[in-house]
Amino acid sequence: MAKLAGFGVVGSGAMGSGIAQVGAQAGFPVTLFDISEAQLEKARGGIQKSLSKLEEKGMLKESAGDVLKRLNLTTQLQGLKSCDFVVEAATENREIKFKLFRDLDALLDPKAILCSNTSSISITEIAGQTKRPELVAGMHFMNPVPLMKLVEGIRGLATGDACFQKVRAVAETMGKTFIEAKDSAGFAVNRILMPMINEAFFALQENLATAADIDEAMKLGCNFPMGPLTLADFVGIDVCLSVCEVLHRDLGDPKYRPCPLMRKYVEAGWLGRKAGRGVYVY
Ligand code: 3HC
Repeated sequence: MAKLAGFGVVGSGAMGSGIAQVGAQAGFPVTLFDISEAQLEKARGGIQKSLSKLEEKGMLKESAGDVLKRLNLTTQLQGLKSCDFVVEAATENREIKFKLFRDLDALLDPKAILCSNTSSISITEIAGQTKRPELVAGMHFMNPVPLMKLVEGIRGLATGDACFQKVRAVAETMGKTFIEAKDSAGFAVNRILMPMINEAFFALQENLATAADIDEAMKLGCNFPMGPLTLADFVGIDVCLSVCEVLHRDLGDPKYRPCPLMRKYVEAGWLGRKAGRGVYVY
């Protein structure tokens, strides 16, 4: 069981709030940082709802209220200063992430571990923004974090063994199963999942079947809990596009080219559930 003085989370979107929640469930004192007060309040509501649901089903070791007592929200990066383990789950944008890592590196104790929940950006490159690359690793959670069992661990070129073992221990203390993937575009999950989602958009673009039938085919034909287009709406079509762009650019193989229809949806602002409209209307 890993013990932490403070578990920091950067970014309170679906991933960040889920990571903060599961951290608090694991007994860590958690500080969740976001620049937006409104987004933090939304995250608090979502976490409360999720914890109540888990409590109702007897899936918590204590009351939802007791878990919530370990969760602090802040709009000041400074609020993370005493954390010895921080997971960054900000927008999937290189410049935003790089700046955050430089700022966290300057702020935190030199022994603190910094992880990124990036879906596809090179951990080696993120670590290169800091003066502690041996203490930087990838810690990739799956959406919805409170329910999904997997964490992908990724070593950058300089990630130290002790750091990586700590990341594994923290993930396992959070009740997750840990697998190790190479620091290559998309790691393991998105390298396989995103080309499938992309292919579902190509199928839709070519009128191979209706969106509902494409989803039904994969749900009933392959026992997927959600069809690939529903899953794209759930993850965010903008996130899917950005991962497909990274796969295409970094692996240099035309088979990874993003589907033009996926790009059109993003241009239209039809980003999925969070926007009220994606492949489906919510
Ligand atoms: N917290 C607590 N409970 C939750 C919850 C949450 N965050 N989200 C859903 N639930 C509950 C629901 O309330 C519901 O409870 P009920 O049975 O009492 O009504 C129960 O879970 C089941 O939910 P649903 O009925 O809505 O739907 P499903 O049975 O389909 O389960 C699911 C939901 C677990 C999300 C399932 O559909 C699933 O596994 N989908 C695939 C998710 C997936 O593939 N995620 C990975 C995405 S890739 C990724 O994250 C990587 C990134 O880099 C892109």
